[in-house]
Amino acid sequence: MTGSDRVSYAAGFVDLDSEVGPLPLEVRGRFPDWLTGTLLRTGPAKFDVGATTVNHWFDGLAMLHRFSFAGGAVTYANRFLNSDSYREAAAKGALARGEFATDPCRTLFQRVAAVFSPQLTDNCNVNVDCFGGEIVALTETTLPVRFDAETLQTLGHYAARGDVGGMVSIAHPHHDAKRGCRFSYVVDLGRRSKYRLFAIPDDGSPERIVAEMPVEKPAYMHSFAMTERYLVLTEFPLVVDPLRLLLCAAPFIRNYRWDPEMGLRFHIFDKDTGQLVVSHVAEAAFAFHHVNAYEDGDEIVLDVITYDDASIIDQLYLSHLRAGETLAATGRLTRYWVPLAADTPVDSNVIADEMLELPRIDYDRVAARPYRYVWCTGRRAGGAFLDMILVFDIIAGETRAWSQDGCFPGEPVFVARPGSETEGDGVLLSVVLDARRGLSFLIVLDALTLEELARAECPHHIPFSFHGNYFPEPTQPAAS
Ligand SMILES: [Fe+2]
Repeated sequence: MTGSDRVSYAAGFVDLDSEVGPLPLEVRGRFPDWLTGTLLRTGPAKFDVGATTVNHWFDGLAMLHRFSFAGGAVTYANRFLNSDSYREAAAKGALARGEFATDPCRTLFQRVAAVFSPQLTDNCNVNVDCFGGEIVALTETTLPVRFDAETLQTLGHYAARGDVGGMVSIAHPHHDAKRGCRFSYVVDLGRRSKYRLFAIPDDGSPERIVAEMPVEKPAYMHSFAMTERYLVLTEFPLVVDPLRLLLCAAPFIRNYRWDPEMGLRFHIFDKDTGQLVVSHVAEAAFAFHHVNAYEDGDEIVLDVITYDDASIIDQLYLSHLRAGETLAATGRLTRYWVPLAADTPVDSNVIADEMLELPRIDYDRVAARPYRYVWCTGRRAGGAFLDMILVFDIIAGETRAWSQDGCFPGEPVFVARPGSETEGDGVLLSVVLDARRGLSFLIVLDALTLEELARAECPHHIPFSFHGNYFPEPTQPAAS
């Protein structure tokens, strides 16, 4: 029996109400002197709202966390994201807007009205990014929320400069340094539903639509893939009849149906012309996260953390997690070879057949290109939840792991050593819950050896969050 069996991970789903800092954290070990930026993260922190409790991990009210590094020291601060959803929930004593798997009671009339004039959630608890020079928190609607990277003060919705429409979006845009933009996508839901890929220029100029594709039953897609020339929509067979969203009384994700007969569809779009180059169908699978993708001759190599089906979503309901139940679903690191020609079948191979999630790469050096290292969280043998950090050398076929009994690490964010051109030369930053003590700490690991360099303990626990990013330059206060 491992330590993680004896210590429940459920402490990671206890509400955090306190807002602190910025305050210096006591450091054990040594943070690299070159680490002089800021790690900004978001995640659900409040699941009990008034007398109600949200249904799902993805529904908790968003909190921002900031770790700032300078001269081997680190400061920490946290603030709730003061979104419309947050303020309305505080005023009402219950969630006021429909979330991923929790929906406030509505009459049919209110629901129809909401679709035509949607009150989308802006509870941005999934990721942090930079749109047109502004730091934003993201969720899976078209309402990113800006915040001040120094003070964590919420600044209001990100105002798109171009009209890309849509209701559902993603919190995992891709950055294309060569083209000076991020790529993302939205879904128009209605009688004529469409996927729409678009670009967000780094210089703040208007968003522009790259490609559109009509779709009868849109899929739930949490991320997509990018190569140097192409954008790839991986359409998992978890799909919705848009009319159900108008007429059915179920929360958002409960309207989606797993339909394995549809298979797994890859749609490859040219970044510059918007042309749909080719579509392929493979055996059904589900995923949240793409890892990386690149062109290799006449095919695209595409790595994804795949599940056999979408049951992982059900296992992440809060009632299961607060009971400390074992995550039964297994996310496997899977490689697909997707031909650029129509008449060749997709091939695939499982690189790692164990529970993995929250993958990261050395993005600035290898995104959309051939690469070697994947960092992620994993589940130890006998473990109930994600309880280790892994690095895969997918060329050498080697794996290293970091773990500590009773501790549950979050997403390992790779930070490159400034000036180095070598993939993987840098450190990992991960927020780890010490479940025995009910406290979280930030750990810094050498990215390749996973040797611990330093840790800094927070004044409280941090509920399990999803994603964040490291901003290497001292962040400038955003314009309000
Ligand atoms: Fe994600």
